[in-house]
Amino acid sequence: MKTSSSTFHFMSFRPDFVLIRQHAFGMAENEDFRHLIIGMQYAGLPSINSLESIYNFCDKPWVFAQMVAIYKTLGGDKFPLIEQTYYPNHKEMLTLPTFPVVVKIGHAHSGMGKVKVENHYDFQDIASVVALTQTYATAEPFIDAKYDIRVQKIGGNYKAYMRTSISGNWKTNTGSAMLEQIAMSDRYKLWVDTCSEMFGGLDICAVKAVHGKDGKDYIFEVMDCSMPLIGEHQVEDRQLITELVISKMNQLLSRTPVLSPQRPLTTQQPQSGTLKDPDSSKTPPQRPPPQGCLQYILDCNGIAVGPKQVQAS
Ligand SMILES: Nc1ncnc2c1ncn2[C@@H]1O[C@H](COP(=O)(O)OP(=O)(O)OP(=O)(O)O)[C@@H](O)[C@H]1O
Ligand SMILES: [Mg+2]
Repeated sequence: MKTSSSTFHFMSFRPDFVLIRQHAFGMAENEDFRHLIIGMQYAGLPSINSLESIYNFCDKPWVFAQMVAIYKTLGGDKFPLIEQTYYPNHKEMLTLPTFPVVVKIGHAHSGMGKVKVENHYDFQDIASVVALTQTYATAEPFIDAKYDIRVQKIGGNYKAYMRTSISGNWKTNTGSAMLEQIAMSDRYKLWVDTCSEMFGGLDICAVKAVHGKDGKDYIFEVMDCSMPLIGEHQVEDRQLITELVISKMNQLLSRTPVLSPQRPLTTQQPQSGTLKDPDSSKTPPQRPPPQGCLQYILDCNGIAVGPKQVQAS
């Protein structure tokens, strides 16, 4: 992307491919990177996940609408989606038939803006808070949960985890919790496989559900490539992501018309001297070696490979 400004220095670089590992948008402060996603889409930059899907993940109810479509296709037995009500604004937040509920305000992460509401008086109080936020809200039944389930898919690799709260917070992502890997089942595989088809396909995604004390599962969220890696196989997961990026880049190269045979991408460092071609004066201009494409993989969730992100503020 090329950016110019007279007031501040902005590093300019042209990536060949991007891996996006952070939220593109959140309503908390300094969490809006949608202008960068738009810029990358504008430039036709290939990425993991697709920029189109990342943009579509900037509104949780928009993603939930996709899950509703899956629920309608597969049915509640195969895809036990939690019942959720959408309120475009606070004015629609009249009373609900059953309590307790969880009200989720706007598009936020890490448990932010999620409130457990016990009765319609508290619900009215929360509606008055939503009135100040100028955003939407959703409400869903509060599930008295035994544990959370997370089914993740990285390319063709599947893993399932359960997370049990230790500190007693109903949000298992808040306070201390115990994480355990559990067996992948056909049921979990169906959940994550169908969800991975949304928005034209998600290379990396995870489905989250709560397992209630009633013994039932309630799917409540899909995460995209911004999902944090968890558990004891994070090194393997990181490797899987790397392989996914390389195979995507190789796919792109094989689709690009080239004048000379291309070597497939590897994780190795570019060899010095690969750019030199003794016959270059006789042959038409050639593309740089494919290894050169691996210049900028932005892993914003962990270690940044390539230039440091510069924020315009
Ligand atoms: N309807 C519900 N009933 C019971 N517990 C819930 C419900 N919805 C969410 N939770 C709990 O609260 C946690 C946080 O909820 P949620 O994932 O919606 O918030 P978030 O802001 O997206 O957090 P994260 O960024 O960690 O995904 C869940 O992991 C789950 O333990
Ligand atoms: Mg969540």
